[in-house]
Amino acid sequence: MKDHAPRASDRTVRLEEYAPFPWIVGDVSLTFRLHPTATRVLSRITFAPNPAAPSGPFFLHGEKLKLIEASIDGAPVSPTITDEGLTCDVPGTPFVFEAEVEIDPSGNTALDGLYMSGGMYCTQCEAEGFRKITFYPDRPDVMAPFNVRIEGPEDAPLPVMLSNGNPGAQEGNSAEWHDPWPKPSYLFALVAGDLVAKSGTFTTASGMPVALNVYVRPGDEDRCDYALDSLIRSMRWDEQEYAREYDLSVFSIVAVDDFNMGAMENKGLNIFNSKYVLASPDTATDVDFEMIEGIVAHEYFHNWTGNRVTCRDWFQLCLKEGLTVFRDQQFSGDMRSEPVKRIDDVLALRARQFREDNGPLAHPVRPESYIEINNFYTATVYEKGAEVIGMLRRLVGAEAYRAALDLYFERHDGQACTIEDWLKVFEDATGRDLSQFKLWYSQAGTPRVEVSEEWDEEAGRLALTFRQHTPPTPGQPDKAPLVIPIALGLLDAGGNEIMATEVVELTEAEQRVEIGLGTGDADLASDAPRVPGRPVPSILRGFSAPVILQRQTSAEERAFLLAHDTDPFNKWEAGRALARDVLVRMVTEGAEADPHYLSALEMVAKDDALDPAFRALALSLPSQDDLAQAIHDGGATPEPTAIWAALRRLAEEIGGTLEPVLSRLYDEMRVPGPYTPDAESAGARALRGAALAYLSRVDGGSRAAAQFAEAGNMTEQLGALGALLRIGKGEEELAAFRRRWEGDRLVMDKWFALQAASASPAEAHDVALRLTGDPAFDWTNPNRFRSVIGALTGNVAAFHEPEGRIYRLVTDWLIRLDPVNPQTAARLTTAFETWKRFDADRQGMIRENLERLSAVDGLSRDTSEMVGRILA
Ligand code: PHE
Ligand code: ZN
Repeated sequence: MKDHAPRASDRTVRLEEYAPFPWIVGDVSLTFRLHPTATRVLSRITFAPNPAAPSGPFFLHGEKLKLIEASIDGAPVSPTITDEGLTCDVPGTPFVFEAEVEIDPSGNTALDGLYMSGGMYCTQCEAEGFRKITFYPDRPDVMAPFNVRIEGPEDAPLPVMLSNGNPGAQEGNSAEWHDPWPKPSYLFALVAGDLVAKSGTFTTASGMPVALNVYVRPGDEDRCDYALDSLIRSMRWDEQEYAREYDLSVFSIVAVDDFNMGAMENKGLNIFNSKYVLASPDTATDVDFEMIEGIVAHEYFHNWTGNRVTCRDWFQLCLKEGLTVFRDQQFSGDMRSEPVKRIDDVLALRARQFREDNGPLAHPVRPESYIEINNFYTATVYEKGAEVIGMLRRLVGAEAYRAALDLYFERHDGQACTIEDWLKVFEDATGRDLSQFKLWYSQAGTPRVEVSEEWDEEAGRLALTFRQHTPPTPGQPDKAPLVIPIALGLLDAGGNEIMATEVVELTEAEQRVEIGLGTGDADLASDAPRVPGRPVPSILRGFSAPVILQRQTSAEERAFLLAHDTDPFNKWEAGRALARDVLVRMVTEGAEADPHYLSALEMVAKDDALDPAFRALALSLPSQDDLAQAIHDGGATPEPTAIWAALRRLAEEIGGTLEPVLSRLYDEMRVPGPYTPDAESAGARALRGAALAYLSRVDGGSRAAAQFAEAGNMTEQLGALGALLRIGKGEEELAAFRRRWEGDRLVMDKWFALQAASASPAEAHDVALRLTGDPAFDWTNPNRFRSVIGALTGNVAAFHEPEGRIYRLVTDWLIRLDPVNPQTAARLTTAFETWKRFDADRQGMIRENLERLSAVDGLSRDTSEMVGRILA
C-alpha cells in the first residue's frame, strides 16, 4: 500500500484487469447521525463468500474516514487502514461487518460524498463518492438492498430527511428509508435540510400510485412546475415507448445549488443542479426549459437503463449513459420537433465530441484504462455512445430494436452488465453478427467518409464510391473499417425525390454503390427505375452516423439542397456547409461575403412553410470553434481574431442584406399573450431572437434596447442584452439587469456568462479581471465558476487573445480551484485540448501555462491526469 499521495501514474485502472468482488453483500443498514462537521455513520453489512469469484483479501474502499470502531460478528477488530481503504482478516463463512466512522460534510468542498450546500446535507456518490461516506466495496457490480436511518442534529432538527426507496418510520427527529431494489453504492443518496416540496402523483400503467416531489429551498416553490410536469411526461413516455414502469411508491427530485454536474439518477431520489430544476418565465430562458425537460427525462430513464440494469465496472459507463442519452433524445424529439432536436444534437456532438475525438483527449466510447474515472464522463461516452445506439437502431430497424430492448430488460434486470451483454441481446434478438459493429466501442476517432460520384448518362445510373478512414488517436495508430449506415436520398433536377431514403451499410475501406436500373452488386434500389436525368444525391440523411463526410460539392449544389432537400437535417446541413465555406474563405483569403450564400439564406428565412425553429437554426452561423476546426482540417493555421472578425463582418452583411425579411420576421414572430415554454412559442422566439441579433448590427441597437425595456420573460430580456453587448453597447442595461437580479444565483450566472461569452478579443482581459474581481464571483460554486471561466474559454477569440493573458488568468484560477474542487477544475482543463491547432506563439504560451499547472505541488489526480494527456 502507498504511504504517499498518489501521483497520476500510480493508479492506472485497466478493463482487462477486471475481477469480481470475492464476497456477496447480503444487505446494508446505515445510520446517519448528522452533524455539520462531525457526522457519524454506522454501518452493518452482511458478507458471504462469492462462489463465482476466486477468494482474495478482504478490502473495503474508504477515503477520508475517521474510524471510530469496527467489528466482525460482534467482536471488535482493528483493521489496517490506508488512504484508499481498509483490509481485515475475515472468516471464510458468512459474517456481519459493522463500523462507525466520522466524516466532515461542511469541510467537503469537492462536492463528492456527503457535503453541505446552503445549509442542507446532500450526497453525490457516482462514481466513487460512497467511499467518502463509509467503508464499503464501492464498485458498481456489488448490488444490495439498503436500509437507512437518518437522525437529525438535536439542536437543529431538519424538516426533511430523505434517502432512497420507500419511506419507513418517520418520527420526530429521525427518518427511515428502505430501498428493496438491490443497487450499487454509487446510486445511494441522502438529503436533509429545510426544504419544501412541490408534489404530484402519477399512476403507473398497472395502477400503482407514485407520490412525486420536487424539493427546493423555501422561496423557490413557484419555480418547480415545469420540472414536475416534465417528470410526469417522462414516466408516461417510458411506459408507452419502452413498456417500463416505475417501481417504488415515491419519486423525488431535489434541487441543490452546489453540484459538479447536471444531475444524478440516485434510486428514487434524483439530485439535480438547481439550474436544471428551477424555472419561471421571468428567470429561465426557452433553452433552460428545454434542458430541464431533457435532463429530468434523462435521470428518470436511468431508473431502468442504469439502475435496474447497471454497469459491471466503470469501463461500461456508456452502457447506461449512451443508452440513456439516446432515450432522452428520442423523448425530446417526441415532445418537440424531431428534426430540430436532431440538428441541435448534432451541433452539440460536433462542438464537443468531434472536438474531443480529434485531439489529445480522444478515447473510445468504452475506454480501456483510466486514472481518474471522473475524467471519463465525456462527450464521447455520452454523445457518441448515444450515436452508436442510434446506428444500431437504424441497422436493425425500429421493431427489432424494441424487441432487443425487451430482451435486454428481461435477461438482465437486477444485474451489472457489460457492452458484450448488450450486443449479445441484439445478436440473439435479430440473428445479426455484430462483431464488426462492436468496433464502434473500442476504436476512438471520428471516421472520415469520402464520397465520389460517377454518372452514366446512357445507362441512367449513378455510382457512388465511399472510402472510409479514421485518423490515428492517442494509443491507436491503426484503425479498421467500421460498419457505417449511410442514409441516402436522390433528388432530380427539379428538386423532387426520386426514391425513398435507403440505408447503405458501409463495411469496407472502399465501397461502390450503384443506383438505377440493373444495379450490380449494390443491395440498393435494385428494382428502381432508370434514373431519368443526373440526380443530386442527399447523403448521410438525418446524420445517420457520427462521421465527417468529405465530398467536393459546389456552392450551387449546396444551395440546391438547401432549397429542395426534403430531409430536414440535410437541408440544414447544406446551408451550414455553405456558411462554413464562405467564412473560411473570408478568414483565409479575405474574401467578401458571398452573395449566393446571402440569397440562399434569404430564401430560407422567407419560406413561411418552414418551422420557425428550423429557420432560426438555419440562420445561425458556425461557431468560432467550428471555424477554427474547419480551417485546421483544411491544413491551415486558424487565427482566432480573424475568425472573430469574419463572423462579425458576415453578421453585419446578413443584417444589412436581409434587413427587409428580418424586420418582417422580427414583427411577425412576436408571441402574444403570457409566456409558455412550449416548442412552438419557443421556436417563434428563437427566430425572432436570431432576427434581432442581425438587425442590431445595423440598427444601432434600437430594437434591442426597446425589447430589453419591455421584455416580459427571460428569453427576450437576455436575447436583447446579448444583442447589445455584441455591438459594444448595453452598459446601462447590464447594470439594470444586475440591480434587478442581484439576489438570484441562477440569473446572476447568466449575467456573468453573457459578458464573458461576448467580450471582444481586445476587451477580454479587462472583462475577465472585472468579472473575477466582482464580489459576486463566488468561485467555489461550480455554476458561478463555469459562468465566468468556462464562458471565457468558450469564447475562442477572447481565450486566445494574442498576448496570452487569458491563458494565464484561466490557469491561475484552475490552480486555485483544484485543491477545493478537483472534478470541476479537471473538467475545465479541456479548454486547452485544441491547443495544437494554433500558431507556434500561442502553443508556446499554452504549453508554459499547462506546465505551470502540472508542476503544482499536490495537484489532484483529476487535473494531473488531464494535463498529462493534453500535453502528451
Ligand atoms: N450519472 C449522471 C447522469 O448522467 C451524471 C453524473 C456523473 C453526475 C457523475 C454526477 C457525478 O445522469
Ligand atoms: Zn446519465
